[in-house]
Amino acid sequence: MVREWDPLTAPSEEIDSLVNTLNAMLAIDLPDDPPWRTDSFREYLSVTMPGERRIIWIAEESPGEATDDKPGGVGILGQANILLFDTMAVLEVLVHPEARRTGVGRELLTAAVGRAHAEGYATLGVEAIGGTAAATFYEAMGFSCAYQETRMVLDLASVDWPRLGEMAGGVAAGYRIEYHPGGPPEELYESYATAKYLVHSTADLGDLSLRPSSHNADRLKASLATLHMRGMKPYIVLAISEATGEVAGLTEVVVPAQHPERADQYDTVVVPEHRGYGLGRAIKARMLFELRSAEPRLVSVQTWNSAAAEEMLKVNTELGFYPDREWREYEATIADLAASLGV
Ligand SMILES: CC(C)(COP(=O)(O)OP(=O)(O)OC[C@H]1O[C@@H](n2cnc3c(N)ncnc32)[C@H](O)[C@@H]1OP(=O)(O)O)[C@@H](O)C(=O)NCCC(=O)NCCS
Repeated sequence: MVREWDPLTAPSEEIDSLVNTLNAMLAIDLPDDPPWRTDSFREYLSVTMPGERRIIWIAEESPGEATDDKPGGVGILGQANILLFDTMAVLEVLVHPEARRTGVGRELLTAAVGRAHAEGYATLGVEAIGGTAAATFYEAMGFSCAYQETRMVLDLASVDWPRLGEMAGGVAAGYRIEYHPGGPPEELYESYATAKYLVHSTADLGDLSLRPSSHNADRLKASLATLHMRGMKPYIVLAISEATGEVAGLTEVVVPAQHPERADQYDTVVVPEHRGYGLGRAIKARMLFELRSAEPRLVSVQTWNSAAAEEMLKVNTELGFYPDREWREYEATIADLAASLGV
């Protein structure tokens, strides 16, 4: 059975059970990824940006099953959630490998589609890992692939640090590089958001549209606060134009309390007029040095690249990132899903 579930009030046994289910999924679908911890997991699920809501369902064999410590039991069979923001609803579905192909995924999807439909949303988006059951499942459910990119991973143990040092120092005159653990300084919020806006409004950076960016200072502030509340620590390296004091380039990496061994690269942008001066390479290289000393548990960093973002792909490869998995964005019209699932 499927029921709506609130991570803030759920018993800690259910939190543990959900993390176990997530790790069982990783062991099958992404066996090289570090397992998740329960650290800040409630906050990870419950905190959203202002104006957004996340609604969660869990699947159990029978009510309260997830809190039973029955030997051999899998506890929570699966989880689905939808993040509702202004333009669309974004879905995640996860089923324990031992409970797959029994209709749990379909049942969780039906609950999520029912709610998104009732709330008046038109489109449902979801990310799936290429070559796994998820891609087949979403296609069977009527989703189509709208976008594909490659996840790339860098192992810190394999980094050529002296070479990276050259890259970090290879910046043209007229720029300085700054490191800001926790977030950029408040006096640079406006300039930082403008740099993101200038790049995202004109180019396909290869970011999935399911991950909205912070294009103004208020949204940036809210986004940093949300990350901290979810247990995700942002690290920022900036290239500053010395002539104007403005942000010429920026790179963001987040280290989540849920898996501090694997960091996530967020945005990297260099404002068009400052391109060709080695800034992209220098800020990303400097970031790796800072992470190595600030986060002793960190083993690897992951980033996502579209084939279209050639320059970024080149920089990432020079730094030592290698292609790992295809990552797909699927979309479906909610009215069509509701009809086919009999909602
Ligand atoms: C995708 C997933 C949710 C499917 O869950 P499930 O409970 O096995 O799905 P269902 O049993 O409801 O399957 C519904 C239909 O999808 C299709 N399907 C699902 N898995 C499939 C597979 N491995 N091979 C072929 N078809 C499949 C089938 O058409 C199936 O119907 P059928 O069994 O009657 O043939 C599950 O495999 C999963 O959790 N994968 C990992 C998801 C993930 O990576 N989440 C995190 C994203 S980072």
